[in-house]
Amino acid sequence: MEPAVGAIVLAAGRGTRMRSARAKVLHELGGEPMIARVLRALAPLAPAPLVVVAGHQGDEVAAAARRFAPGGRVEVARQPTQRGTGDAARCGLEAFAPGFAGDVLILCGDLPMIQPAALETFIAGHRRARADLSFISAMLDDAGGYGRVLRDRAGAVVAIVEARDASPAELALGEINTGVYLARAAVLRAALAELRPDNAPGEYYLTDLVAIARRHGLAVWAWRAPDASQFAGINSLKELAAMEAEIRAAVNRRLMEAGVTIVDLATAYIGERVEIGRDSVVGPNVQILGRSKVGEGVRIEGTAYLRDVEIGDGCHLKIGVRAEECRIGPHCEIGPFANLRTGTELEGHNRVGNFVETKQARLGRGTKASHLSYLGDTVIGRETNIGCGVITVNYDGYDKHLTQIGSRCMIGCDTQLVAPVKVGDDVYVASGTTILREVPGGALCVSHHPQKIKPGWTAEWRRRHGGRTEADGSE
Ligand code: UD1
Ligand code: MG
Repeated sequence: MEPAVGAIVLAAGRGTRMRSARAKVLHELGGEPMIARVLRALAPLAPAPLVVVAGHQGDEVAAAARRFAPGGRVEVARQPTQRGTGDAARCGLEAFAPGFAGDVLILCGDLPMIQPAALETFIAGHRRARADLSFISAMLDDAGGYGRVLRDRAGAVVAIVEARDASPAELALGEINTGVYLARAAVLRAALAELRPDNAPGEYYLTDLVAIARRHGLAVWAWRAPDASQFAGINSLKELAAMEAEIRAAVNRRLMEAGVTIVDLATAYIGERVEIGRDSVVGPNVQILGRSKVGEGVRIEGTAYLRDVEIGDGCHLKIGVRAEECRIGPHCEIGPFANLRTGTELEGHNRVGNFVETKQARLGRGTKASHLSYLGDTVIGRETNIGCGVITVNYDGYDKHLTQIGSRCMIGCDTQLVAPVKVGDDVYVASGTTILREVPGGALCVSHHPQKIKPGWTAEWRRRHGGRTEADGSE
């Protein structure tokens, strides 16, 4: 039987080179913290335990780890002071049961492009090679600040030397350490105990494991990954921005190959997990994030922020739509300038027009709210027309209450519905009505003050103000 695999993700560092107070692994790529991507790459391996080592901004890193770990199953180990990757690995290993006899995969938390298939190939190779300690290396034209892999004449790995401690000859080597390691727990435990901080910054380098293992005559194997780009480590905001651009370009390419028109590649910000159907058009300045799913033939004019939104076929989003955690059925017309908040569900063929805000609002097929409304905590039937300026008065200062409106209603302009309240089917509500009590189906509801007329009133009013009109100014 294959040995069990546990994993340690090193995420305690501050990321000094980011020049930021925020922990490096919390910096975002594609709309989510870097560490989310590393945890996702680990998901198919189902490592048990999965340990994230947190230190700088430890509580925030722990929260992100719990949120993004597959199935939320993660243990958080603390590294009280950041004394190097070797020290972090030791802290992570302490979270393993003493009897754990499997292999331990260690990854740096700043490797956001890493893919599960590569990890699987690496683990299989390690086992085939019967190695005691393995790591993933890669060839780079410009090896920059990565640790360099030193090999002897026979080609066997001898050590990893950090760029800052390397000689010019070593710096010239093109094989780098990617920051992914595998070894049996017992081998790791013994070797980690031998780490010494005798290097330029006085840190415990995890990379020294290689030389230590060789000293003990253990078998060390490096898998040269063919695709170095998967192992790019992010150490600065410049590298982060370059990677963001790379991810975005790849997403755009995939979508265009699937028949999606992107009007301006430079301003389409589309998340990797977003799906868009063919013949849809994404206009300039559009963000589509999270797990959004856009149907076929959807037109997004431009300047939109859409997160975790489902949009049916044939919808038209005019300029300036913001929608989060919503479901928009087919053939809806949204905007310009509409705000669809969490829990909005449009059945289809709806119109939600300019300056309409919806929240926890369910609109049946064909129902329209074309201008200037707030529809919160409401369920509306089909083919109902919500007039301009209609407001659901859902909040009493303590609780939110439900407004129910039936099908085929005409809710007049400037109506307020004071929730909890119910309006039946086929109701007409006169404009300017304040609805306080249930309106039965088929009724007309009016709450106007009777209209009074005072002929000649204006002239008298102005006479009392010295004949001045308001336009003359009050002073
Ligand atoms: C490390 C490797 C280097 C390799 C590179 C690959 C070491 C000494 N060097 O360098 O050989 O080429 O990754 O990207 O390991 N961390 C902690 N606690 C600490 C220090 C770091 O948890 O005390 C974490 C960081 O949060 C980060 C990871 O370890 O996620 C790597 O640290 P980083 O400082 O980025 O190492 P590199 O200089 O990139
Ligand atoms: Mg790094």
